[in-house]
Amino acid sequence: MQTPKERIEWLREQLHQHNYNYYVLSQPTISDAEFDRMMRELMDLEAKYPEYYDPTSPSLRVGSDVNKNFTQVEHRYPMLSLQNTYSEGEVADFYNRVKKALNGDFEIVCELKFDGTSISLIYEHKRLVRAVTRGDGKVGDDVTDNVRTIRSVPLILRGDDVPDYIEARGEVLMPWKVFEQLNKEREEQEEPLFANPRNAASGTLKLQDSRVVASRKLDSYIYYLLGEELPSDSHYENLQVARRWGLRVSDAMKKCKTLDEIFEYLKYWDTERKKLPIATDGVVLKVDSLVQQRNLGNTSKFPRWAIAYKFNAEKALTRLISVSFQVGRTGAVTPVANLEPVLLSGTTVKRASLYNEDAINALDLHIGDMVYVEKGGEIIPKITGVDKNARTGIGEKIRFTEKCPDCGAQLVRNEDEAAYYCPNSEGCPTQIKGRIEHFVTRKAMNIAIGPETISLLYDKGLVKDPADLYELKFEDLIHLERWAETSARNLLASIEKSKSVPYERVLYALGIRYVGETVAQKLAQAFPSIDLLAQATFEQLTSVEEIGDRIARSVIDSFANPKFVDLVDRLRRHGLQFSLTEEALAAKTDKLKGKNIVISGTFELHSRDEYKAMILQNGGKNNGSVSKNTDFILAGENMGPAKLEKAKKLGVKIIDEKTFLSMIGHT
Ligand code: IVH
Repeated sequence: MQTPKERIEWLREQLHQHNYNYYVLSQPTISDAEFDRMMRELMDLEAKYPEYYDPTSPSLRVGSDVNKNFTQVEHRYPMLSLQNTYSEGEVADFYNRVKKALNGDFEIVCELKFDGTSISLIYEHKRLVRAVTRGDGKVGDDVTDNVRTIRSVPLILRGDDVPDYIEARGEVLMPWKVFEQLNKEREEQEEPLFANPRNAASGTLKLQDSRVVASRKLDSYIYYLLGEELPSDSHYENLQVARRWGLRVSDAMKKCKTLDEIFEYLKYWDTERKKLPIATDGVVLKVDSLVQQRNLGNTSKFPRWAIAYKFNAEKALTRLISVSFQVGRTGAVTPVANLEPVLLSGTTVKRASLYNEDAINALDLHIGDMVYVEKGGEIIPKITGVDKNARTGIGEKIRFTEKCPDCGAQLVRNEDEAAYYCPNSEGCPTQIKGRIEHFVTRKAMNIAIGPETISLLYDKGLVKDPADLYELKFEDLIHLERWAETSARNLLASIEKSKSVPYERVLYALGIRYVGETVAQKLAQAFPSIDLLAQATFEQLTSVEEIGDRIARSVIDSFANPKFVDLVDRLRRHGLQFSLTEEALAAKTDKLKGKNIVISGTFELHSRDEYKAMILQNGGKNNGSVSKNTDFILAGENMGPAKLEKAKKLGVKIIDEKTFLSMIGHT
């Protein structure tokens, strides 16, 4: 019989191995269900025996909702970027420059250029201790908790030859499939779409809630090793060893001796890359020998031993079948082009964004036109032009619809906006249902009800606004077609549970235009109850960080609308949270109002993240770098030398943690 400790250790070891089989070797030996079962067992045991906590446990890959403002970390080795080239001629120039400078044999490693966001993974004694973004190349954000959720990033390296300190540089990516699904969900939520997987990946790495990061299924590739004790002088060999240690390294690497071999690689991957599940935007060429790399050295920005060759943005020609118009919960009407399916950068494109009326007019679009679709730098497809020579007879000119595609109301266009709106917010079924759908989403009230059920309840006249949900009775539901007792009870329980959802999420759920998740959090912090928010003036609203004119006006308009005020009152009567909790309120002060504070070094009494949170809770701002606007530096042991020098030069005050704590009355 295993002790709980032994069982936990055994499960961790097994899960690490299965992760490696799955994500690095692509050869799983157990089913997903079996994997999930082991993971659940581990998580249950870890919850029961917290004394066996281990930051490298595979269970931590599911993330946590601990709020983190990212700590800034200085890179031990700067993170340089690469000089871009766009033609074979420029590649030949690079090759010849290297040849001349080295004056002897050399090899060039060709690799794919992954289009994600760069990351530095730091392993000490085989364990992942830190993951840092590129930042400005010198200082980046510590995103370790988020990176831990990436399955292809090993938490512990394998093998007996892993140096005590090793940095693995690579790229964090969002696979095309995940990207498309995420944007689909965002479209449904009327949240702004990510333009490409790169933005989606970097946006995801900066999320506060690592559980959301975990749900986004990021991937990674390692393309460089750094450290004092590297396994080999050859970059290529180092990456082979890195693969053995469990890091994900691409198979597409090739060592080339001649320019012809390099060109062959470029040509092959220009088409082959379209079959890959992740975005690539070029090829990186690197001198293989690290000694030769050192001899060639770096300019201030780029290494002289490497360049990037960028592929041309991809275009395809296809026929425009029709344009449809969609209305969302805020009433905004968006045009979408329906296309004859065409293959573009590895995905079949059937629809493309047309943005707004001005964009349609600028293209002079007609039904049946042959149109160019582009994913400029792998962006969501957009129509960039019309092949007018291909017009055989002319189809109907595309005009922006004047009527709401759902309720038929006459659309309006605000003076300073390109978008059209359906003004019938109280009577347009799509808008009404859309508002309820938004209200129940996971990030809002998290009520377990899908769009079909909402539609059904709306059609039956049971629910016309979010407050009606709280008036639903068991009898109402059980009489619906195909509704079993359990589903009715589950829904009612889920509605009941939503009453404890915190104020900032309720605020988000209300669906005030332009008030997304983060804005709702900012507003809730600044106006800790809905009554205070309702009374806030334009000036008070815009004085809050990140709240601009547009948001402020939208908030004021909402509270001027008697229907909205009535909805809030009814929800309040049902017991929803319309103010910050005592706990959240008690921690808030103005003691550091308007102060710009930089944190540096390591601390004894609290963690950096805790100090960051204290600064925010007391009304101050935390900045990453020292400038003339810095009010003071909160410094611990081993303050970064660059920061110290700059502080001295600018005469910025430096205070220690005890002084800081007494400043905010923390004892
Ligand atoms: S090597 C000093 N290799 O491209 C060497 N970079 O513009 C630094 N990238 O910031 C990078 N794939 O994020 C290298 N195979 C690859 C890469 C790669 C993608 C990214 C990386 C870097 C940017 C350079």
